[in-house]
Amino acid sequence: MKYTLGLIGFPIKHSLSPWIHERFLKKANLNGSYSIWEINSNDSFTEKIEVLKKRQVNGFNVTVPYKQKIIPYLDELDPAANRIGAVNTVVYQNGKWKGYNTDGVGYVRSLEHKFPEACSSKNNRILIVGAGGAARGIYDALAQNGFRQIDIANRTAVNAYEIAKLGITSTKTNVLNLEEAQKSIPGYDIVIQTTSVGMKPKQNSVVLSLDHVKETSIVSDIVYQPIRTKFLNQAEVNGAFIHYGHTMLLYQAQYAFEIWTNSLVSIDHMDDELQLILEGR
Ligand code: ATR
Repeated sequence: MKYTLGLIGFPIKHSLSPWIHERFLKKANLNGSYSIWEINSNDSFTEKIEVLKKRQVNGFNVTVPYKQKIIPYLDELDPAANRIGAVNTVVYQNGKWKGYNTDGVGYVRSLEHKFPEACSSKNNRILIVGAGGAARGIYDALAQNGFRQIDIANRTAVNAYEIAKLGITSTKTNVLNLEEAQKSIPGYDIVIQTTSVGMKPKQNSVVLSLDHVKETSIVSDIVYQPIRTKFLNQAEVNGAFIHYGHTMLLYQAQYAFEIWTNSLVSIDHMDDELQLILEGR
């Protein structure tokens, strides 16, 4: 069989997903292709989706701005995608189009890979900074994974409360503003930066200061352009362990590929290779 896979979104011409999935196809010894199917605002979204459906592609990723817009076109939603309210992976299986969200699980897989002990201690206290779509997926996956304390700090409190509603009874969540979060930083074992603050071309900004971060803590930044953000630099200078954003990209893709092909491919050295690609940009 030959897998026909791809990505919809806008703008996506510089997406790293074709590089990642074509490597996965080779690793899994599968025949197939992964294409860029850009849908711009002048196109009819319905017509474009109908074309993909008629072609009976095996699956596709969905990115900005269509992660919610795709939902009414699907027959089924995976429970996590349903809770999160956004889809980044669609698969055609048994005559049905089913939507998943692999972002949060991808983040947790990347953390587990680099820091397995931190992931097995469910009493580790977690702070998520930001309350957008990425924060929502990550919060859901961490709560489902059994972490007992996941706080959310955001500029706009109401957005953080919306995410806290996803919580399950075994997870406690406090909502903080950014000033409160900065003061409480020493109390967290894992800090996850999910806003776009610090992304090129504004790489000199940080959403909050990490001057008082705990030395043994882990600090993640989901921004990967630049790969070493100012936030991660501050974390390292203050003795924390750092976790790069591009690894989440690889592991969310690994889970999507597993959904499409039933093959679990290993990431091996792809994180180092992707780091080189990103540093060359
Ligand atoms: P995504 O879906 O990629 O996560 P998003 O939905 O645009 O992106 O979410 C952006 C997050 O970054 C939000 O939490 C936003 O805060 P608000 O909820 O207050 O809007 C946060 N954010 C963006 N720019 C920010 C800034 N300059 N300072 C603080 N937070 C910021």
